[in-house]
This record gives sequence, structure tokens and C-alpha cells, in this order.
Amino acid sequence: MLPIAPLMIEHRVIERMIRLMKDELRHIRSTDSPHLGFLEAAVDFIRTYVDQCHHGKEEDILFGNLQKKKPASQLTTVMNKLIEEHAQGRETVKKLVEAKNRYLNGDLSAAKDMAVQIEFLIEFYPRHIDKEDNHFFQPCMDYFTDDERGMMLKAFFVFDQRLIHRKYKDLVENFEKNGLNLQS
Ligand SMILES: [Fe+2]
Ligand SMILES: [Fe+2]
Repeated sequence: MLPIAPLMIEHRVIERMIRLMKDELRHIRSTDSPHLGFLEAAVDFIRTYVDQCHHGKEEDILFGNLQKKKPASQLTTVMNKLIEEHAQGRETVKKLVEAKNRYLNGDLSAAKDMAVQIEFLIEFYPRHIDKEDNHFFQPCMDYFTDDERGMMLKAFFVFDQRLIHRKYKDLVENFEKNGLNLQS
């Protein structure tokens, strides 16, 4: 199995969440009343599964190993753009959470701001995924031997294995440091 296979499988799961977020966008636009439970789960999905688990493997392992190979400048340009987009995704989720918190504190107009951020995410992620699946992953693989590809795949598994422990250890530490009133 190529190391890009698990990343592409994860892309398919992300696309399914994006489809659900499209349903939620339609719902908010027609009712001004967000499904807060769903949005809480969608934010956790993007922060944990997409950003920490998926982007984490891309940036720390795939991109990191690719950089060591001194790839063609065209590929480096795409990689830097992808890193920039990961940061853009994080910023948008932060704005979505801020709008959700305003809504929870009684500002009903924040539902419209939530819709704006959701709309950005559902347009942005499919384009990002297409760039990786169809223009980046395969040319990346050409730089690695079979052994190196196998090592990368193993590194992905180890990364995934450690993730849940890191997530919940960080969660406990965060509350210990900042108090129990902390909002996400
Ligand atoms: Fe990515
Ligand atoms: Fe990706």
C-alpha cells in the first residue's frame, strides 16, 4: 500500500462531513436556527480528524520527508500553498467557533456569521482535496523508494496511534492551566 492511500481514504471521510455541512448550511439559511450539537461535532471533526490527524500526517511526515528530497520547485510551491491552506482552514474554524459562542450567549444574528464560515469551508476543502489527490500526492511518491514508502506508512500508523493520547492529555492540561470556564 502506498502511504498516500490512507490519506486518500481520509479525504473520502472528510467529503462525507462536507456533505453534512452543506445540509446544515441550507438549514441555517432557511431557519436561522443552527443545529448546535451537529456543529459542535463538526468543529471537533475538523480540529481533531482533519487538522490534527490528517493534516498532521501530511505536514509532519509526507511534506517533511519530501522536503528532504529537495523536490522540483513547482512541487515545493504546491506544498507551501497546501500548508497555507491548512492554516486558513484552522482560522475559519476559529471564526466559526467564535460565532457559535456569540450565538450561545444570545446574539441570534451570529447564525448568519456561522453560515458564512460554513460556506467557506464547504467550498474550500473539496478544492484542497482535489489539489492533493490529483496534482500532488502521486508526483510526491516518485521521489521515494519502496522502502521509504513503507517506512512512511509505518510512521503514519504510529502517528495515529499516539494521537488520541496526545489529544486527551492536552485537554486535561488545558483545563488544569486555564480553569474550568474555558470555552473552546
Ligand atoms: Fe492537506
Ligand atoms: Fe489532505
